[in-house]
Amino acid sequence: MALRIGDTVPDFTAETTEGQISFHNWLGEGWGVLFSHPKDFTPVCTTELGEAARLKPEFDKRGVKIIGLSVDPTDSHHAWAKDIEETQGQALNFPVIADHDRKVADLYDMIHPNASETFTVRSVFVIGPDKKVKATLTYPASTGRNFDEILRLVDSVQLTAKYSVATPVNWKQGDDCIIVPAVTDEQAKEKFPGGWTALKPYLRIVPQPGKES
Ligand code: BEZ
Repeated sequence: MALRIGDTVPDFTAETTEGQISFHNWLGEGWGVLFSHPKDFTPVCTTELGEAARLKPEFDKRGVKIIGLSVDPTDSHHAWAKDIEETQGQALNFPVIADHDRKVADLYDMIHPNASETFTVRSVFVIGPDKKVKATLTYPASTGRNFDEILRLVDSVQLTAKYSVATPVNWKQGDDCIIVPAVTDEQAKEKFPGGWTALKPYLRIVPQPGKES
């Protein structure tokens, strides 16, 4: 069955470009983003992995480990990494799982047989320190993901986890946030001593908590 928001992510051991990992141990106490790509030596995937590597410092800043996956073996990943560096100007700097037996792809429902019997779709799992799914994205093989959007998504779910705020439509880092409905006005007085603007009783706007000035 598909993994859903709030589910605990399945643990597994796997070969990666950085050696064998046990996934829950590898995640440790922090956040993680696991993303699949359909196949090595394909054009869109090449651009995605270069961009993910370029943005790794941004994920690091947020305490998020990133890890890729495709159903190719490690020697293929290593050979392809040279092409990624050559064409994208960025060396791989995070592990890529060699899921040649599709063990992880099956566990995480990354193969959608009506799209392809053999390749994974472009799945993204944002995983919290509690090892639970905080968000997922699924794109077809033909559409490269926007890794800035994945960072924006991480920022949003981290704000919710830390401050009990939600983020409105088209929110960007630094924009105002919304107090989640589960927080009563009484609780909000403690959490947001600077106050909030209530456009409706259920629509309470606060400056982004913890915003760097
Ligand atoms: C790509 O990464 O370019 C790709 C992979 C599989 C199908 C279509 C595109």
